[in-house]
Amino acid sequence: MTEEIVKSALSKVTYPGFTKDIVTFGFVKEIKIDGNIVNVTVDITSSAPEVAHQITLEATEELKRAGAGEVVVNITAPKMPRESSSKGKNIAPQVKNFIMVSSGKGGVGKSTTSVNLAVALAMQGKKVGLLDADIYGPNIPRMLGVEGIKPEVVGNKVLPIKAYGIEMMSMGSLMEEGQSLIWRGAMIMKAIEQFLRDIMWSDLDCLVIDMPPGTGDAQLTLAQSVPVTVGVTVTTPQMVSLDDSRRSLDMFKKLHIPIAGVVENMSGFIAPDTGVEYDIFGKGTSKAMADQFETCILAEIPIEPAIRTGGDEGKPVTYYAPTSETAKRYMKAAEDLWATIEKINEEGGVDNQAIQPNTPPGVSACSTAAAPKQETSGSCGTGCGCH
Ligand SMILES: Nc1ncnc2c1ncn2[C@@H]1O[C@H](COP(=O)(O)OP(=O)(O)O)[C@@H](O)[C@H]1O
Ligand SMILES: [Mg+2]
Repeated sequence: MTEEIVKSALSKVTYPGFTKDIVTFGFVKEIKIDGNIVNVTVDITSSAPEVAHQITLEATEELKRAGAGEVVVNITAPKMPRESSSKGKNIAPQVKNFIMVSSGKGGVGKSTTSVNLAVALAMQGKKVGLLDADIYGPNIPRMLGVEGIKPEVVGNKVLPIKAYGIEMMSMGSLMEEGQSLIWRGAMIMKAIEQFLRDIMWSDLDCLVIDMPPGTGDAQLTLAQSVPVTVGVTVTTPQMVSLDDSRRSLDMFKKLHIPIAGVVENMSGFIAPDTGVEYDIFGKGTSKAMADQFETCILAEIPIEPAIRTGGDEGKPVTYYAPTSETAKRYMKAAEDLWATIEKINEEGGVDNQAIQPNTPPGVSACSTAAAPKQETSGSCGTGCGCH
């Protein structure tokens, strides 16, 4: 037996739920060969026992087929995710955790971040859904390479579309390409509710939600419909973008959503030919803002042509170039994000009771003058009815 034979045998073992093998993913960490005894260590990102089991079985089979006498497969895996302990209104109770990805303005990379974080979480073994709640600019189907695919309808429910091990739904998958939507606030609220209630999401560890830019009806409705576990704000480093991002962070506070961190996107530029890093929009400028909101920088993602082509071609960089610096940063951000979610749940989870509307159904408490004025101290001041 040689290392080449072992690697070639292991490259026939696909990672459960994906089309790539464990060698390509970089999961094979150690190979020890002693005569015809082979000892391999596979460091997987999934905590699901069935994933470890399947890899052990298939690796043993392939190695024996390649001539190994005795095979030992050591699997190292992260611990199982905890159940959510959140309270309050939840119209999608099969989803344990909700991750709201927001930004102050469009074009800063919110959808790119949502896609790559969702893919990273799935590669780390979580059962992940991705909801494209940007009803005016639904880009997720293209970014996942499933544009033009229409979802299956079962009774009065719609099945999510599957890609890269995640479940996805988007307004873009429900309407004809290139159509525009001209919607009133009440319709936006209805759409958000239907995305949560009428899509047949599986029992998910988390649902990543790509919000429309800004702070409006969609954000408020989402927060009132499900207990949002964490918020992530995406910004670019320019001051004008940071101004808008502060509003987005402030919205999380008003909606009682714990902030998991800020993703500083387009943070410097790494030249693909030389690897030299250039400062284009600035770099590291979001740190002061994160400090102000007592949160952290989840990731600094450089401008990289592969991110843009990955988005346009439906090939997320985290999946297609897992060894790239950018993919590593997304993977690290997903790990940190998950650690925050676990901590929040350990400490009792989130509760959206305080922000429930006290106006008639179908009328947004925050977007209408009909909202009763709250004079009580401790009110968030938006008129959403908290406290
Ligand atoms: N770090 C990056 N490097 C290169 N291109 C990027 C990066 N982040 C986003 N893009 C590209 O910029 C455009 C806008 O990003 P997108 O995620 O659609 O923004 P948003 O959802 O905030 O409107 C897309 O074409 C995307 O591929
Ligand atoms: Mg977008």
